[in-house]
Amino acid sequence: MMNTEEKERLQKFMAGAGVASRRRSEEMIAGGRVRVNGRVVREPGFKVGGADRVEVDGLAVRRRNKFDYIMLHKPVGVISSARDDRGRKTVLRLLSRDWEERGLYPVGRLDFDTSGLIVLTNDGAMTYKLTHPRFGVEKTYLAWTPGQAAAGQLRRLAAGVRLEDGVTAPARARTVRLEDNFSLIEITIREGRNRQVRRMLAAVGLETLRLKRIAFGPLALERRLAPGDYRPLRSGEIEALRRATEGRGR
Ligand code: URA
Repeated sequence: MMNTEEKERLQKFMAGAGVASRRRSEEMIAGGRVRVNGRVVREPGFKVGGADRVEVDGLAVRRRNKFDYIMLHKPVGVISSARDDRGRKTVLRLLSRDWEERGLYPVGRLDFDTSGLIVLTNDGAMTYKLTHPRFGVEKTYLAWTPGQAAAGQLRRLAAGVRLEDGVTAPARARTVRLEDNFSLIEITIREGRNRQVRRMLAAVGLETLRLKRIAFGPLALERRLAPGDYRPLRSGEIEALRRATEGRGR
């Protein structure tokens, strides 16, 4: 992670600021299009820091935010940790090289067989707040279960069910579709225990056929974001995430 005291290579700085890929930035540097503090620099490894003014074709390049935040639609069959001992594909492998190099990691976990919204960042303090149960960030899931879920089962989910690691906190649960052979349940929880939704559903006698996270705190999974796709969060969304953790944690 870069702080204002650290220097980084000019092409990395340019790529990070969204000017172009690193390779393309190197070409721009070699082509004499880049100035640092008013002087043309043609050395690709030239180091720049917080106080340096970088211009490309005479236009100032703004230093990027200190941290990066991405919304990613995790597909089924991809692991949400940064590494996997068993060599399975991780969410980080879905990112392009420039993003991959920024030290991003997933905020919390989704199971291998769960799809949906996951945030990636390199902001450790924000990650802590978004994942610690004390801050109670809401996560909303859609669960497909066979047969027809009964109102009593939904009430039990909402009230809290006994799992082997304790009773779950109050949640919200409702049926969004009821067909002859399956039900679609929307459930919102504030905790983040391992396989929590699947275990909650099993505790009330419901099997999970498919599970998808559709919201994380103030962020909703965008419909046009296909599985495997991602996009940077907008500044308003980053602010909303920050606000979601404010005033809690005591
Ligand atoms: N609950 C689960 O059971 N699985 C997930 O991936 C997330 C929440």
